[in-house]
Amino acid sequence: MNLVFLGPPGAGKGTQAKKLAQELGLVHISTGDLLRSAVKNQTPLGRKAKEYMDRGELVPDELIIALIEEVMPEGGGVIFDGFPRTIAQAEALERMLERKGLHLDMVIFFDVDDDVVVERLSGRRVCPNCGAVYHIKYNPPKEDEICDRCGTRLIQREDDREEVVRNRLAVYREQTAPLIEYYERKGILIKLDASKDIGEVYSELLRLVNEERN
Ligand code: AP5
Repeated sequence: MNLVFLGPPGAGKGTQAKKLAQELGLVHISTGDLLRSAVKNQTPLGRKAKEYMDRGELVPDELIIALIEEVMPEGGGVIFDGFPRTIAQAEALERMLERKGLHLDMVIFFDVDDDVVVERLSGRRVCPNCGAVYHIKYNPPKEDEICDRCGTRLIQREDDREEVVRNRLAVYREQTAPLIEYYERKGILIKLDASKDIGEVYSELLRLVNEERN
């Protein structure tokens, strides 16, 4: 199966993608994670992407498409998380899959209101070492501000500051939300109520995906 997780920043795409990929043995491709790792390692891509990410703007399509070309497994079986984010990226993905004899099975739209997004992003803490994601209220680590997995002190993502979040939401509405209609027209968009708690959202996601598989 090849799935796209589409939705506003902080909707819970990454949280759910990690769980589902593990359960179904799919490859989780998060462009946000790949870009953050490129920034951390100061690669040429990371140096170019950083200024866009710090402002909450989209990294140019050609850089993202080249990145996906690099990491896409031959046989598919992917959850694309945070990609595509523009119509140009969606068209490029379609061409890429077609060349490999593959197609998209489902696009899951994580439907959630702006006030929920802001609360989720302002409480998000991430591990700078292993990438684990927490929330101070909804998914706290066992020991305050310390990663359960590797013991590193947690940090807040640079782009989770309030003014950047506002810009990310505006960019989402303008450049990414048109993909909802784009995939609706293709008949592969499934809406998921992402406002419930992590466990409930996951059960519903699993039900929808299993329905499609059978
Ligand atoms: P990216 O990292 O993709 O950011 P995003 O889409 O804004 O998504 P987030 O990671 O913020 O949120 P999420 O939906 O994964 O939520 P999460 O599970 O963490 O992109 C960052 C930047 O990179 C972009 O701004 C752009 O510059 C660039 N970029 C990336 N991809 C690009 C592309 N394709 N094209 C161009 N540029 C690109 O959850 C959020 C918080 O809520 C966590 O604390 C979590 O614990 C908590 N939580 C999750 N689910 C629930 C729940 N159900 N109830 C309560 N809390 C929950």
